[in-house]
Amino acid sequence: MQTTEVNDPYLRIEPAEIKALEDKYLFSTYARSDFYVSHGSGAHVYDLAGRRYLDFLSGIAVNSLGYSHPRLIRVLLAQGKKLIHCSNLYYHAYQGMLAKKLADISGMSKVFFTNSGTEAIEAALKIARAYARLNGCETKSAILALKNAFHGRTFGALSITAQEKYQAPFRPLLPDVDIVEDVTVSALEKAFTDRVCALVVEPIQGEGGVVPLPADFLQTARLLCTRYNALLVLDEIQSGMGRTGKFFAYQHYGVEPDLVTLAKSLAAGYPLGAVLGHARVAESLKPGEHGTTFGAALSPAGWPWKCSM
Ligand SMILES: Cc1ncc(COP(=O)(O)O)c(C=O)c1O
Repeated sequence: MQTTEVNDPYLRIEPAEIKALEDKYLFSTYARSDFYVSHGSGAHVYDLAGRRYLDFLSGIAVNSLGYSHPRLIRVLLAQGKKLIHCSNLYYHAYQGMLAKKLADISGMSKVFFTNSGTEAIEAALKIARAYARLNGCETKSAILALKNAFHGRTFGALSITAQEKYQAPFRPLLPDVDIVEDVTVSALEKAFTDRVCALVVEPIQGEGGVVPLPADFLQTARLLCTRYNALLVLDEIQSGMGRTGKFFAYQHYGVEPDLVTLAKSLAAGYPLGAVLGHARVAESLKPGEHGTTFGAALSPAGWPWKCSM
């Protein structure tokens, strides 16, 4: 470990004081390690004593460009002086640029930006219901998901996160969710009915133990979704952004989704998520039916993409 000097007033706060404040005033939703972060640089993070550590955690799969990437900082500083927030009520240069980039990479045509992964999932669930309604199927509301999945903590996402430890304290959850207990083709075939409007899966289950779905399972999922006019929603929040060698994990499978969710390192540390979809699906949400104040409503949404790294 090396040490470094940083002229930061934050360093004058003692670890004991930081801990005492957080313990007293924060909801205790996270069991923190006894580690006091000061700053980062590249792949290293420094504690308050100036000790340097190689950071294998990178946030929770967030800091894809490392800490304090010079180009990111340059854009942040410049943009901070111009405009911090621009609402979704107006046009601004960056959202369209980033949406185009994601559309080009994914082969999808439309993007909805969110603040987080769980919100991207919420949007996907609403789109699935809206799509069914638009096709005249009011009763087509069932959502399928897999055992041991993890899709987030808000109520919709939690309802399809079939893990007892997350769901038990918050029941009742969203109705009309069916969990496929086995990751087998026959279990999937059994679960599908005309009432299914969407199947939501992670191509590689992250929290579930880094478990890639078998290729025949994902390929059958595509076939069944097409047959039953349900949406195949691939949650790439953990597996996307190039972490498997291709930008999306589904690109290894030769399977085309109807909707894809992204978040985590999408903006290299700035909280940003997205739902990507084909126009025929995306357009089932009409103006006013979904939205969020901060969903990509900050102008540098194009940060990592604006500058070629
Ligand atoms: C696969 C997957 N989906 C959804 C989420 C939720 O994302 P967020 O924590 O940004 O709400 C996560 C978070 O770990 C995830 O791994």
